[in-house]
Amino acid sequence: MPHVPLYEHAVNRVSSSASTRIATGRTAAVLSIDLNSPALLRNPYPLYAELRREAPIHRLMPGIWLTTRYEDADRILRDPRFGKDFLAGVARRYGADAVEKPAFQMVNRFMLLMNPPQHTRLRGLVGKAFSVKQAPELRRLAQREADRLIDGFIDRGCADLVRTFAYPLPVRIICALLDIPPEDGLPYLEDAQALVKVFEPSPIGPSDIDAADRAAQAFERHFREVCDERRKNPGCDLISLLLQAEEGEDRLSGDEIVANVALLFLAGHETTANMIGNALLTLFRHPEQLASLRANPSLLPRAVNECLRYETSVHIAARVAMHDVAIGTVTIKRGETVYISLAAANRDPAVFEDPERFLIERPEPTPRPLSFGGGLHYCLGARLARIELETALGCLLQRLPALQLENIDAPLWKPTIAIRGLDRLQARW
Ligand code: HEM
Repeated sequence: MPHVPLYEHAVNRVSSSASTRIATGRTAAVLSIDLNSPALLRNPYPLYAELRREAPIHRLMPGIWLTTRYEDADRILRDPRFGKDFLAGVARRYGADAVEKPAFQMVNRFMLLMNPPQHTRLRGLVGKAFSVKQAPELRRLAQREADRLIDGFIDRGCADLVRTFAYPLPVRIICALLDIPPEDGLPYLEDAQALVKVFEPSPIGPSDIDAADRAAQAFERHFREVCDERRKNPGCDLISLLLQAEEGEDRLSGDEIVANVALLFLAGHETTANMIGNALLTLFRHPEQLASLRANPSLLPRAVNECLRYETSVHIAARVAMHDVAIGTVTIKRGETVYISLAAANRDPAVFEDPERFLIERPEPTPRPLSFGGGLHYCLGARLARIELETALGCLLQRLPALQLENIDAPLWKPTIAIRGLDRLQARW
């Protein structure tokens, strides 16, 4: 029976002569998927379902693949035959000269994009700095900042919660952990959004690359100054703890420290800010689930877990094959990139019962969503992110009992798929 794609406008099939044999024994056309299509950005899940059903892996362009099933995603994240080679992907998509661009160079120094043994060393150091802060202390910090922000807008009766709450909350928290004034972090929000575009699986245009370069240079300048100052006046913040590593046996270079402070700033807010918006939207789109949560706030951790599964903010993680690896009947050649759709894996019916349903009381034990990745690069901030999400949702629902969101049927999504989030979330109470 011929297979009819659900998203014909998002999926253009190339000639069937360029076909790939897949594990199910069917022959699937090599897909060229427009990951920037407006329909896909509005709702990528029907396409994810189609791709997941059709084959374990799809070729997006020569040397670049996309995988969507939970089992494959989970296995690739943990498979030591896959690693990171960010600049190889840059050269493939933008040409060899592009690797020298400031944005790609800075991002390439992120621990997120390193392999062992460099990754092991850096992760150990940053992880140690992170574990110094205990959960109750982080919860108090999150609660204090959430209350402060709500105090600032509660009398207005309406606000865009993306700008007034979802972004400033994690920015203030990561700034507190880095011990930089929030006023120093907030002006960098646009730069942060410009820089994270380099993670988009589809090539971005020259103006976006220029904006990412300017952002990388601004971060570089700012965090270098902060590090220089902190060397003179150390404290017990994350930057001071990282700087101590300059002196130890596992020395970090100044450039590595600056880049990874920028990573903490970026990863510490961009992912969580988008996730707060996605979680709010999802809850208000499912009023019966929201009502159960309001009636029983102890469901908050499970509600956060289900929001992370159902509408995660980080849709894609990337790996590069360090050896030739077979997936189904396709061989991923050494040096080729695999994009892992964490969001598609999170709705895989082979793993989650009734996955398209948002259900905060899923039968226990619920399989682990892949929203924080897996294996060596498992999110270092997962514990902090859960605390922030629980506090953000808990505080808003408690302090704004009449909260209502506008445009929940046609919300304004940002034009990016690697990180998915709302551009605006207008609310009244
Ligand atoms: C809802 C919020 C968050 C989500 C969905 C998220 C998701 C992820 C994912 C999927 C990865 C792995 C990427 C890969 O395997 O290539 C990752 C890594 C990472 N995340 Fe998060 N993250 C969140 C919040 C945070 C926060 C609050 C921080 C704190 C600073 C943070 C810091 C990091 C770092 C440093 C890494 C790199 C770890 C490594 O390479 O070993 N994240 N995150």
